[in-house]
Amino acid sequence: MRIFLAPMEGVVDHHMRQTLTAIKPSGIDICVTEFVRVTSHLLPNKVFLKAAPELEQHANYPLRLQLLGSVPETLAENAAKAAAMGAPAIDLNFGCPSKTVNNHKGGACLLDDTSLIHDIVAAVREAVPTEIPVTAKIRLGYDDRASYLRNAEAIELAGANELVVHARSKADGYKPPAHWHYIGEIRQQLSIPVVANGEIWSLEDYQNCIEQCGRGDIMLGRGLLARPDLAYAIKQYEAGLNYELMPWAELLIHVRMFFSGTSLSYPAKHTGNRLKQWLFYLKRNFPEADALFEKIKKLRDREEILKALS
Ligand SMILES: Cc1cc2nc3c(=O)[nH]c(=O)nc-3n(C[C@H](O)[C@H](O)[C@H](O)COP(=O)(O)O)c2cc1C
Repeated sequence: MRIFLAPMEGVVDHHMRQTLTAIKPSGIDICVTEFVRVTSHLLPNKVFLKAAPELEQHANYPLRLQLLGSVPETLAENAAKAAAMGAPAIDLNFGCPSKTVNNHKGGACLLDDTSLIHDIVAAVREAVPTEIPVTAKIRLGYDDRASYLRNAEAIELAGANELVVHARSKADGYKPPAHWHYIGEIRQQLSIPVVANGEIWSLEDYQNCIEQCGRGDIMLGRGLLARPDLAYAIKQYEAGLNYELMPWAELLIHVRMFFSGTSLSYPAKHTGNRLKQWLFYLKRNFPEADALFEKIKKLRDREEILKALS
């Protein structure tokens, strides 16, 4: 079983990918970038490098670069460029629920247009060298959970190497529960790997997920932010081994490193924003993260935050 770190715009950037995969052993096998929005032209290098600085640096984890758009030809030429720049795999986003994105005919609204999804995947697959995987990420449908099978089949038919399914419709938003049993149905129909995603926050959620859709690859987003050792815990469980939640003292080392990386990448007054965002997730499992969040939530000065972290 492989475990993917989910793409999360504004949250899982290269700092977060580096941090979460540096927790040894992280249990994370593959990371996916935030989406790069493709509209009408060939994007400059800097846009790809902003989403994936790893293209120019050494990364210790396999990466997929995610594209979002609705014009097959434009997506294809941008995918070919990303591949030429070193993207090890291309992922296509058919799940983004954002109004702005959907109003420009991108993301989840394409779930109502199976033939366009097919044409996008086929065009990208043809434009990218065969050794570079082309993958797609969908939700179960737009207004309802009805288009998942035809979209999944179209994606396979168009030549995609893998499919990730976020087990909710666009209308479901992020409201629990995730409807994992649909993924079991898709897995039965498709011969490419189908990655299960959505609402796995704990080992118990994982157990419920596999009960509903069977064992296979999974993708974790918010659950991994809230519990950075969740992928490892799941792998230990699958190996029949016991594993306790990682100690806060160990996690704090990574929290500090994350702050060192992110605090200089943002304007001074926003220096602690990314740290506060992560602590907000972590406090679900770590009371110490809650205490730290309370301590720094009003701080704006980098030195003061560093002091609080020490
Ligand atoms: C803040 C945020 C940003 C997201 N950005 C993306 C994105 O750029 N591309 C994408 O395919 N999915 C994106 N997603 C969806 C996640 O990848 C994932 O499918 C969803 O959060 C469900 O998984 P989880 O319950 O494990 O978090 C985003 C989700 C959140 C909460």
